[in-house]
Amino acid sequence: MYYGDDLIEEVRMKNDIVDVVSGYVKLQKKGSSYFGLCPFHNEKSPSFSVTPGKQMYYCFGCGAGGNVYTFVMQYENYDFVEAVKMLAERAGVELPEENQDVESRRSADFRKVLLEINKKAAYFYFYKLKQEDGKTGFDYLRGRTLSEETIKHFGLGYAGKYRDELYRYLKKEGYSDEVLKESGLITFHEAKGIYDKFFNRVMFPIMDVNSRVIGFGGRVMGEGEPKYLNSPETKVFDKSRNLYGLNIARTSRKPYMILCEGYMDVISLHQAGFSNAVASLGTAFTSGHASLLKRYTEEVVLSYDSDGAGVKAALRAIPICKEAGLRVKVLNMKPYKDPDEFIKNLGEEAYEERIGRAQNAFFFEIGILESQYDLKDPESKTLFINEIAKKLLNFEEKIERNNYLEAIAEKYNIGTSNLEGLVNKFGLQMDSSTEKRQPMQSSKRQETINAMEESQKLLLTWLIEKPQIYLQIKEHITPEDFQEGVYKTVALHLYKQLEEQALNPAQILNIFQNQEEQNKAAALFNTKLNYLETKQEQEKALKDIVLKVKKSSIDYATKNLDPSDMAGLQKILAGKSMIQELEKLHISLD
Ligand code: CTP
Ligand code: MN
Repeated sequence: MYYGDDLIEEVRMKNDIVDVVSGYVKLQKKGSSYFGLCPFHNEKSPSFSVTPGKQMYYCFGCGAGGNVYTFVMQYENYDFVEAVKMLAERAGVELPEENQDVESRRSADFRKVLLEINKKAAYFYFYKLKQEDGKTGFDYLRGRTLSEETIKHFGLGYAGKYRDELYRYLKKEGYSDEVLKESGLITFHEAKGIYDKFFNRVMFPIMDVNSRVIGFGGRVMGEGEPKYLNSPETKVFDKSRNLYGLNIARTSRKPYMILCEGYMDVISLHQAGFSNAVASLGTAFTSGHASLLKRYTEEVVLSYDSDGAGVKAALRAIPICKEAGLRVKVLNMKPYKDPDEFIKNLGEEAYEERIGRAQNAFFFEIGILESQYDLKDPESKTLFINEIAKKLLNFEEKIERNNYLEAIAEKYNIGTSNLEGLVNKFGLQMDSSTEKRQPMQSSKRQETINAMEESQKLLLTWLIEKPQIYLQIKEHITPEDFQEGVYKTVALHLYKQLEEQALNPAQILNIFQNQEEQNKAAALFNTKLNYLETKQEQEKALKDIVLKVKKSSIDYATKNLDPSDMAGLQKILAGKSMIQELEKLHISLD
């Protein structure tokens, strides 16, 4: 969905940043800013500031910062469009409808109705649990040591013995059979008639990341087959793109997510304080799940069942997670089968301790591999080592690969150079191009770029803090002198605002739709210049920066000049004489 700049700015202006942040963080006024404990990193004394004048926040501890959109994105883990929607709703600003054509309009309406039905069903089951005839369900859940609070937190419910209670209720609510058929909650059978999909089960509503009920899992109370019954996939229920518990886990602010197998595992873990636990929905873990997780975390701790099936599932999930760019660790719950059992027997501290000892996924995989060979037999051991060598090739980064290589060589007493030789041999066999060579000068080039960015950053900060210098330098430095990316974009808008004498930092941030860029831009507006003692010193420092920016801009243009580009060449020459002018220029801070 694309919203116009004016609309985005309107929504931003109608959501005062102090109001919005106060909903999440306790703020205290100090001078012209408000301070509180940063919600984005752990701290004991407040370094998180919100400045109403700029309509921005910034943490001097961790560097998180931005405008009201950035805050909501960062806190709620929303993308930009989701943040716009939430803040528009909060401020009562109406957004244009997403899809205008009839077909997609109809399908959106239909999804809405299905969500409504699922929500009503969830309330219905939840209500049942507290009724006289729901006692079996309630006792079952309490018997599994779930507190009333937990039951409520997850909206657990009960589907009674009668086979059409939900159907009758939903009919009374006015839904047609056509729609109910598509909800997956009612079965229409030619011979057997119409009946509820779920009866005589405790119910687990399944929610999407925005806490909307999209389906259910239902468990028999005690023994019986199937142990769990799940809603079929519907227009709103896509099992490969949703994870149980993620609606809660996504705001848990832990640096990793715990991935387990079952609904009960997630619930027990949350009850024990591990609110970052999620599970797939009675299906295998997919790349859709992995990329969903990647939106919220960098690391996954696998807490799959300890049995053979669990190990197999873990071995499948590891490469899928890695492919999505997640780091993976594997938690050992032995002698217990799953997190639910483990917590019940050993408690949360023991589980926390196991998290601390969770094994790096590579070593886990090697450990499993090892069990398939007899290391006392030279032939078998050779085969095993060959397998290790092939696996090591999966690490594309040489340093990383070497670290693993050394660790493994030591563990199995192989000899680093032997193993290295083997890895190289397989590497050549596979494809000589897998050995990715980095250009020698890349680190040197990176250094130059960093230095260049640093002076551009400083110059932007000066312009923001001391707008009076704008008129003195605008002829010499233009937005074109800034690096492609965040700084150039900021420069373009900042110049425009300064020209119109209407500095509005928070508006500039609207332009960036990803968080990393927003943070980078926000840092500009919150960097305090390291003030030098005297005005002369300051003016000299400023002039140095201006010169650096101009020089690196010309260097850059020279290096990237296409020899046939005459206009480009002219520009470079003009730039060079500009430097001479700049050397003589006096920039005044008065
Ligand atoms: N599952 C399923 N259908 C089944 C069995 C299992 O969909 N017939 C899914 C459910 O999502 C379940 C998960 O696989 O939560 C893990 O199964 P299992 O370990 O058997 O169940 P637990 O969640 O551990 O539940 P419980 O503790 O009640 O046995
Ligand atoms: Mn289980």
